Parts: sequence; C-alpha cells; structure tokens
Amino acid sequence: MRITLGVTGGVAAYKSAELVRRLQTEGHTVQVVMTRAAREFVTPLTFAALSGQKVITDLFTGGESGDANLESAIEHVAVAQRTDLLLVAPATADTLAKFARGLADDFLSTLYLASTAPVVLAPAMNVNMWQHPATQENLFSLRKRGVRIVEPGEGYLACGMTGPGRLAAQEEILKAVREIVEAQQDLAAETVLVTAGPTCEDLDPVRFITNRSSGKMGYAVAEAAARRGAKVILIAGPTSLETPVGVERIDVRTAEEMLRAVQAQFPAATIAVFVAAVSDYRPAELALTKIKRKDGALTIRLEPNPDILATMARDKGDRLVVGFAAETDHVAENARKKLAEKNADLIVANDVTAEGAGFDVDTNIVTIFSRDARDLPLPRMRKAEVAQRILDEALRLRSALRSKPATHRAGD
Ligand code: C5P
Repeated sequence: MRITLGVTGGVAAYKSAELVRRLQTEGHTVQVVMTRAAREFVTPLTFAALSGQKVITDLFTGGESGDANLESAIEHVAVAQRTDLLLVAPATADTLAKFARGLADDFLSTLYLASTAPVVLAPAMNVNMWQHPATQENLFSLRKRGVRIVEPGEGYLACGMTGPGRLAAQEEILKAVREIVEAQQDLAAETVLVTAGPTCEDLDPVRFITNRSSGKMGYAVAEAAARRGAKVILIAGPTSLETPVGVERIDVRTAEEMLRAVQAQFPAATIAVFVAAVSDYRPAELALTKIKRKDGALTIRLEPNPDILATMARDKGDRLVVGFAAETDHVAENARKKLAEKNADLIVANDVTAEGAGFDVDTNIVTIFSRDARDLPLPRMRKAEVAQRILDEALRLRSALRSKPATHRAGD
C-alpha cells in the first residue's frame, strides 16, 4: 500500500523514523510529508534516507530546492492520488484543528483535503492541550468524519507534566494501519497458488544441483496475497524463510515433486504465480551411494525437467497465470516470447544482473508484461511492494479481460 506519513512538529517526531521502517517491512511504500515545525525537530534528510524518497515539505517551493513551478504547485493533488492511506504521527493540536476546520495553508493540510484515502491520526501534545475543549471538539468532528484516532498514551511528557498526550505506542499505530489494510481485502474470493525458491536435483546422497534463488520474491507474493484476504498455498523448494502468516506451505525438493504438488493444488486455484527458480535439468541417474573421486574427468548426464508453468498453463481455464523471467539480456524480447510460449497472462521480467535486482536481495527492478500488451515498468522497489503490484496487475487484467466486448466471428 502507498502510505503518506505526515510528520508534524512535536518532540515525538523522531519516533516516526522507526515507523517508516516498520511500515516498509510490512510491504508499504512510504512518502513522508513534513510540516515546517516538524523540521525543527528532525531533518528531512533522516526521513529521505529511511524512506528512499524525497521528503515533501512546503507547498509551492518544490521541497528543498525552493524552485516554485507548476509541478510543485499541483504536487499535493498528485500525492493525494497515489495515497492509499494518510497517516499523521505525531499529529499536533494545530494539525487536528486544521484538519477539523478544513484549513489548507501547508502541504499536509492541503493533501488532507485533496485526498479520499482513509486517514489515521496519532496525536501527541501537552496534556492540557489534549484535554482542552477545542482539541476535544476537533477530535469529535474528525471521528465523525471517519478519521481513525490512535489515542495518545499516558505518562511523563516532554513538557514535564504527566498525563495523556504521549504519542501512542508504535504497535498501536501499526495496528490501526493494519486494520485499514485488512479492510481492503480485495483478494478475499481468491485462492492463490505460489511456487517459490529453488529446486534441488540430487546427484547422490550428499550432492545436488541447485541455483541462487532465495525464495524471497515468492514468499513476498504469498504474504501479500494472504494480507489481501486470499487463501494462499505456497509450494516451496528449500529456503531458510519463515512461512508468512495465514499461508499454507507445502515443502518440496525437486522439480518433479514441485510439479506433483502443483498438479494437486492447481484445480482449486484462481490465480497461480510461478516464482520458483525451477532447475531446468536434473541428473539422469541418481547414485544411491556417494560418487567416489576418480582420476580424470567426471561426466554427469542431465535430463530436462518438466516446465511446471507451461504444463499447467496449457489447460488453465479461466485461472490467471503469472510467470517470472529472470534474464541477463534482451529482457523485453524474452519476456514477450515467454508470455506466448507458456500461455501465461503476465510475465514479471527482471534483469538479474542489475544492481538491486534478482536473487537474494530485498529489492527488485521489474517490468510486468501483460497478455493485453500493457507493459508496466517499475522502478527499484522492495520485493514486498513488487508483490503488491503483481497482484494489482492480475486483478486489473482479469477485469479488463472480463469487460472486453465479445468479438464477433466472421459470419456472425
Ligand atoms: O523459461 P524460464 O525458466 O525462464 O521461465 C521462468 C518461469 O517459468 C518462471 O515463472 C518459473 O517459475 C517457471 N518455470 C517452471 N518450471 C520450469 C522452469 C520454469 O515453472 N521447469
């Protein structure tokens, strides 16, 4: 989900730095907006470094550069459009008042008006300010409007007083975010099958052929689908990753085992995402005892493994089938070819030689090629977010295909 995190002027502003990290770990992309007062407490650089994105500060100034231009003048609208959730932590009494009244004199308050996304506010202020009838009335209006308020905790405040006013614990804020995310269960009717990780093809009792797949991308798809309400079956080769919450994992070792497991689960699936780096070949013979060292060269004969994706997609019915293409050259050309040859609906292609992409890193740089030719190149992003985009694309393609008017055959 694309979360815009508003940071306003309070001592608790530093706590939001950690919040950025936690939100990212849960698969969200975070755009930070800081008010002028917030910048007195923490520098935008801290948030820029953590979020990996430019921090938005003022209206009309184009952020740090100070260059006013048309782009910066309408940026609040652009940010509003790409915000799935507006979270403000800490939210000062001033921010609550502005939001409640509909004032729009800085970027954050303008964004609040321009956005239709759900809003979560985590107020933090002096106890008297919190208890003041003006603040309480503002909170009342905001709640009435559906704004989610994460109540401040009680305790020792930076002003020296004790009472309610401390920014709520991070877990409380994350809980409120999760509740909203969960409400957006757009995959609740789906059963998503995911293959992940490498396969291991045994040569003898101690040796095998495998590859560098960590399983991270496939596990991210499984996790994202489960969070969006899908029933998820993850068929995984050997990895060291933990099973995501709510996901049913079936462990396999070889490509043949993976194929058998997929064949058993595919009929119940509505979306199948083949992320596994399946070994294309396996040793033709499995030695039952350890192969002994001998003088001279050793030749190992390999035979091809089944192409699981292509095998299943042949009779896919109305299931959506997503494949991956890890390429080292001619990415687009190879991806389009795979779409057709494997009868897939989407191919997620990446150049595994690019930095920040491919095996065993937490980020990826992919282009999603689609059966309806709407290619979607994505910038470098966390695998958790790539996973969300793949699922978004699968849903988009499904509704595009369904709403396509039936084509008339000659003679009709
Ligand atoms: O042809 P290539 O191996 O590049 O295709 C990659 C895609 O096909 C991935 O989605 C991968 O999971 C799938 N695949 C498969 N079985 C194989 C080889 C690839 O399911 N034996």
